[in-house]
Amino acid sequence: MILHKAHHLKGEVTIPGDKSISHRAVMLGSLAQGTTLVTNFLQGADCLSTIDCFSRMGIAIEKTPGQILIHGKGLHGLRKPDGILDAGNSGTTTRLISGILAAQPFETTLTGDASIRRRPMRRIMEPLSMMGADITSINANDCAPLHIKGAPLHGIHYHSKVASAQVKSAVLLAGLYADGITKVTEPTVSRNHSEIMLRCFGAKVQTEDTTVTLSPDPALYCQEVCVPGDISSAAYFIAAGLLVPGAEVLIQNVGINPTRAGILKVAREMGGDITYLNVRQEGEPMADLLVRNSALHGITIEGAIIPTLIDELPIINIMASCAKGTTIIRDAAELKVKESNRIDVMVNHLSAMGCDITGTEDGMIINGGKSLHGTLIDSHMDHRIAMSFAIAALIADGETEILGSDVVTISYPDFYEDLHRLTH
Ligand code: S3P
Repeated sequence: MILHKAHHLKGEVTIPGDKSISHRAVMLGSLAQGTTLVTNFLQGADCLSTIDCFSRMGIAIEKTPGQILIHGKGLHGLRKPDGILDAGNSGTTTRLISGILAAQPFETTLTGDASIRRRPMRRIMEPLSMMGADITSINANDCAPLHIKGAPLHGIHYHSKVASAQVKSAVLLAGLYADGITKVTEPTVSRNHSEIMLRCFGAKVQTEDTTVTLSPDPALYCQEVCVPGDISSAAYFIAAGLLVPGAEVLIQNVGINPTRAGILKVAREMGGDITYLNVRQEGEPMADLLVRNSALHGITIEGAIIPTLIDELPIINIMASCAKGTTIIRDAAELKVKESNRIDVMVNHLSAMGCDITGTEDGMIINGGKSLHGTLIDSHMDHRIAMSFAIAALIADGETEILGSDVVTISYPDFYEDLHRLTH
């Protein structure tokens, strides 16, 4: 994909469904009794991997454009898949489904693509083993493929070292099957989509500060789930709206759950002109966002806000490269174990575009305000890297070529079409 500087960015864009919430809807819909309707479901490659895993365990899932119907079979209705389960590129599928598989009356092998097979799984293997699970890394490297032999589980109080919604959710899903109460305490609060959806499906879940408590219950009940637009996808148009001279964009249907929407706080603190319109609540809070071109300034981003914008840090780097002054990002070592090492990849490619950026152990320091120039960017098959540099291209001189640009199908299949429409 070759992109050029944008001289115009105006119009409206409706953001596709939230990836995290779409995954959870498939999982809970499969474990619930009865038929769950999921509207605005994200038909991106990652969520399709989750559908594939549950279909292979005997769940009938009907797909039509924009929505799916899941014919759930209850907590004990999954059957042993014939063959290996493949989570593709999806960390959420791999880690969350492990919590469910740990309690099934059968054995499974769970794998994924080359990136998944490099990502750390000890973080879920440890708490699940403490609950009684029999889960091993086949290559003994704490990565997938994982061999999971279902076992009777018991509740634990797990103190997670990382603020990770994937870890928290894996333990809570296992907790649905455990004898006794399951608690997870995290260092700071990570996205709470699992807790919200579990409650909607009838589970007994309570949250106090950074601790979530789940009491076992014999059943989940089918629901109608309306998936909000994905703030992580909206983030690219928020940045484009702020950065392209004269831009004004209305981004419709965006999830603004505070455990997830740190980018909105940060963008406003940097001087971004963002207006919330039509704020509403449909299980999760949502709004339309009106974003206007703004002069940004650097800030420090650290501490408890980091988990609420962890996936947006690559695009925040692009915003910081255009901001006046210095932006410091700390406490974000998790960036190293995402779909790519997002500290290294952002530092290398943004430097190549002319930005003054230095990587640190747990983040980066960006001295903004230097003009960017186009160059060759390797997405490293990381969707968020590809989309971040597609936005950088809009403000860079010359031509930016993105290798592996198709990887956007993971979370936003129509990304380039929407971007093209707004810039032409
Ligand atoms: C996700 C949680 C986050 C995020 C990932 C999706 C989820 O990962 O980076 O893209 O759906 O729970 P961690 O839990 O590892 O921080």
